[in-house]
Amino acid sequence: MSMGRRAGANALTLALTLALGLVGCGGGGTRVDEGADGNAGGGQGGGSAWQWLLPTGFPAPRVPEDNAMSATRVELGRFLFYERRLSGNASQSCADCHHQDKAFTDGRAVAIGSTGEAHPRNSQGLANVAYNATLTWANPSLVTLERQMETPLFGENPVEMGINDHNKAEVLARFAGDPDYARRFAEAFPGESTPVSWGNVVKAIASFQRTLLSGNSRYDRYLRGQIVLSASEERGRQLFFGEKAECFHCHGSFNFNDQIVHAGSRVVETPFHNTGLYNIDGNGGFPEPNRGVIELTGRADDMGKFRAPSLRNVELTAPYMHDGSIATLEEVLDFYAAGGRVIASGPHAGDGRLNPYKSDLISLIQLDAGERADLVAFLKTLTDHEFIQDACFSNPFAAP
Ligand code: HEC
Ligand code: HEC
Repeated sequence: MSMGRRAGANALTLALTLALGLVGCGGGGTRVDEGADGNAGGGQGGGSAWQWLLPTGFPAPRVPEDNAMSATRVELGRFLFYERRLSGNASQSCADCHHQDKAFTDGRAVAIGSTGEAHPRNSQGLANVAYNATLTWANPSLVTLERQMETPLFGENPVEMGINDHNKAEVLARFAGDPDYARRFAEAFPGESTPVSWGNVVKAIASFQRTLLSGNSRYDRYLRGQIVLSASEERGRQLFFGEKAECFHCHGSFNFNDQIVHAGSRVVETPFHNTGLYNIDGNGGFPEPNRGVIELTGRADDMGKFRAPSLRNVELTAPYMHDGSIATLEEVLDFYAAGGRVIASGPHAGDGRLNPYKSDLISLIQLDAGERADLVAFLKTLTDHEFIQDACFSNPFAAP
């Protein structure tokens, strides 16, 4: 199908949708920009087939065969994402660690669970999470949003939402006994005898998360020829995509990372990297329990390896890195320019620049203050103000 016809068809759909006043959350997919690529998400699940309306240049997300997208499922998932009764002690929702105005991070160095327990890691942003080939900071085997969700819901080390064998049935009864939720579950999972189930809670929230698409930043508008970048942003762009700063090797996809999966993916690469943040023993050691992929594989050369995060909306997601140990983008640039981090004293003291497991792509970069500022200016063009204000992703319980 030619680009022209495809764009035309979507423009027509959009015009009809607008004319009929049907624009709602997930009504026909996510907010559209011109040149979007449509794809029926496959299967039934709430009536009409799902149609993705994607930002320019974004492929259709991969959707598991047993969890077809539907408007009712997405909307139920949005309610559950913001629902504090979904935690054991009814005090915390997913959104309490994933705030929309911070591109779904929480502004803390490390997360705090519903019972007050500190998580060893920094809460991750959820923009374009549908395309992440592996989930979380350092887990090569976690490949679907459905499986990932078992961790915040049922995890005990650390406790996040605190659902366990003792309160599992009670928490579900909160929803089965609520007529509004009972109706929403029945509509989202038609024909099922027990629509209010943990499996369906997970499916609905995963469907909602797949709609969290961010592709309307200043940079996207620049790509579409709608704006020009400032001189500083343009210098930063050239540094980012050039061989001097080398950022694009690990953050070069349309989503500014290097692990992408989508509906049409054949080969999916899942690299992890040691960027030289620590070297606590002179042998490349990272502090426990945040030693990266080695925690799961036990393989020495997986020490300190983490997934490169998407840099979309990075202006809003401080503090940075898997443990929130870098406070600002300026300091991130200082860290990269030095080719690793030197920690002079304390329990984590060591010269990360000399970490033997560090990636070959991380080494001293001659960047003067102006160039660092240019790179930061470029990174700030990735902020999508529409995404963080989109009513479809907002708290449905908040007063309008
Ligand atoms: C206590 C705070 C907290 C709560 C509550 C929480 N999360 Fe998270 N979330 C985190 C942290 C921390 C990480 C990084 C985990 C890691 O690397 O081990 C994360 C990672 C994720 C990721 C992986 C993102 C990526 O880029 O790979 C997804 C998806 C996610 N959370 C969704 C959810 C959903 C859905 C819920 C509710 C069912 C939820 N979270 C509840 C803190 C939280
Ligand atoms: C070898 C691959 C690699 C290269 C090259 C690289 N990065 Fe990264 N980047 C990563 C990884 C991996 C992380 C996460 C590290 C961690 O948390 O331990 C990261 C984290 C970041 C973060 C923090 C994001 C967040 O949400 O916490 C920023 C900002 C960033 N990189 C920008 C850059 C810039 C700018 C450059 C070029 C100067 C660059 N990166 C080069 C792999 C890379």
